Amino acid sequence: MLARVWSGSIVGIDAVKVGVEVDVSGGLPGIVILGLPDAAIQEAKERVKATLKNAGFAFPMRKIVINLTPADLRKEGPCFDLPISIGILAASEQVSACLLGDHIFLGEVSLDGSLRSVAGVLPIAATAQKMGITGLVVPADNAQEAAVVEGLAVYGFKNLSEVTHFLNHPGRYKPVQVDKTLETLHTTSLQTLDLKDVKGQTHARRALEIAAAGGHNLIFVGPPGSGKTMLARRLPGILPALSFSEALEVTRIHSVAGLLKNRGSLVRDRPFRSPHHSASGPSLVGGGSFPRPGEISLSHKGILFLDELTEFKRDVLEFLRQPLEDGYVTISRTKQSVMFPAQFTLVASTNPCPCGYYGDTIGQCTCSPRQREQYWAKLSGPLMDRIDLQVAVNRLKAEEITQQPTGESSASVRERVQQARDYASDRFKNEQNLSCNAQMQSRHLQKWCKLDDDSRNILEGAIRKLGLSARASDRILKVARTIADLALDDELKMHHIAEAIQYRTIDRMQ
Ligand SMILES: Nc1ncnc2c1ncn2[C@@H]1O[C@H](COP(=O)(O)OP(=O)(O)OP(=O)(O)O)[C@@H](O)[C@H]1O
Ligand SMILES: [Mg+2]
Repeated sequence: MLARVWSGSIVGIDAVKVGVEVDVSGGLPGIVILGLPDAAIQEAKERVKATLKNAGFAFPMRKIVINLTPADLRKEGPCFDLPISIGILAASEQVSACLLGDHIFLGEVSLDGSLRSVAGVLPIAATAQKMGITGLVVPADNAQEAAVVEGLAVYGFKNLSEVTHFLNHPGRYKPVQVDKTLETLHTTSLQTLDLKDVKGQTHARRALEIAAAGGHNLIFVGPPGSGKTMLARRLPGILPALSFSEALEVTRIHSVAGLLKNRGSLVRDRPFRSPHHSASGPSLVGGGSFPRPGEISLSHKGILFLDELTEFKRDVLEFLRQPLEDGYVTISRTKQSVMFPAQFTLVASTNPCPCGYYGDTIGQCTCSPRQREQYWAKLSGPLMDRIDLQVAVNRLKAEEITQQPTGESSASVRERVQQARDYASDRFKNEQNLSCNAQMQSRHLQKWCKLDDDSRNILEGAIRKLGLSARASDRILKVARTIADLALDDELKMHHIAEAIQYRTIDRMQ
């Protein structure tokens, strides 16, 4: 007998509906899986066989042919364990097939019949809802993640027996409701870090505020122990919350990467990712034979923090250039090419030279000019050009260290940031794909960053003195625009430009 169960597969951060056709017929006992399955799906043969027996079902000792459709799409992962199991049970008439036409099944099964969570449930749920599927059956640990999609009944079960009971008695079950208390935050601990614990560093704090308000990339340069890492970790606490559609986008990426397993529903806070400097290119931008999102996509709409930037391999950093400009990355493989969103704010920190003390007030730099040159050469000009705010973080003075911190709290800075973002959004209301100042293009600058004579003189002077590229001067204009937004000022004034020029530390050092 033939049974068809619906399931889903991930392509990039989108999903496609996959049919699992199971035919149980006469012939020598055996099981074959067709339709470009990967090794994990091939292993499902043995897994499902043992599971069905252990869960108290009969495994048909006949010829079983399983066909995954569409046949030309490569399929991967253990999420087909559950639909294959249900297909075999339905084809051997051990479970009712009534619901199989309009439900999607996803899940890995253990040998004892329990269901284990899988990656990518949210995009599959969203696709299912668009295709008019009524219900989704997933492992209990994935239920909250899928329930975020409205207009789709999601059922979460702990084991195979519960799923078969549901198929035989659907009327007895109610779909899962979203539990708001489970809206997750991978950065919870960082959200609680407060700017009010930071002593002094007015300049760096101001730079953080500007970065948060305009979505500008930022680098802190300073001697060891001056507080660079401490400051950067406080940026998530002053960022505005994600809107619902942004949250859904971020959650989708985290779902595909398998980060949501057992961790509840919507990711409500902006991501903060800080990969170690030993990170490889593919781990940063994404990759694999079935491409998976990398750190830059996991920090979509949030922060990618590269601590000790010069320790990263140069070729790995070069990978960042295109996504930084475009806001997405395309990963091409012979069999498929996928696009991952990657609109992140880059925050980096580094020492000013190999020994760390160049320009320090106390420590003596022991590096030769050649060593310093080589050190900076690692960070290519084009990468540094893409960083709007280059901020010197100097060592605290003795009297500042012994004082109690007196700075503003993150909550009050966040209020100003939100106000500035609202002010900017009002300007962007007729523009598509523009949500913060850092994303402005030249034509936007011409429209919204008009300079008076005094401002132009200051900017021209800086371009000549610091040898700035056209891109760097555009960046000054963007930062100046954000500074004006923070002051709710419609026009760019001389002091906005002058302050923006202050954030070109590295250009001034070279
Ligand atoms: N402005 C500050 N206010 C309060 N504490 C500070 C400040 N700056 C540094 N500290 C203290 O010094 C510690 C070290 O700071 P942090 O790790 O941020 O330095 P860093 O600049 O990142 O150094 P490195 O270059 O070695 O990575 C912090 O954990 C904190 O306890
Ligand atoms: Mg540090």
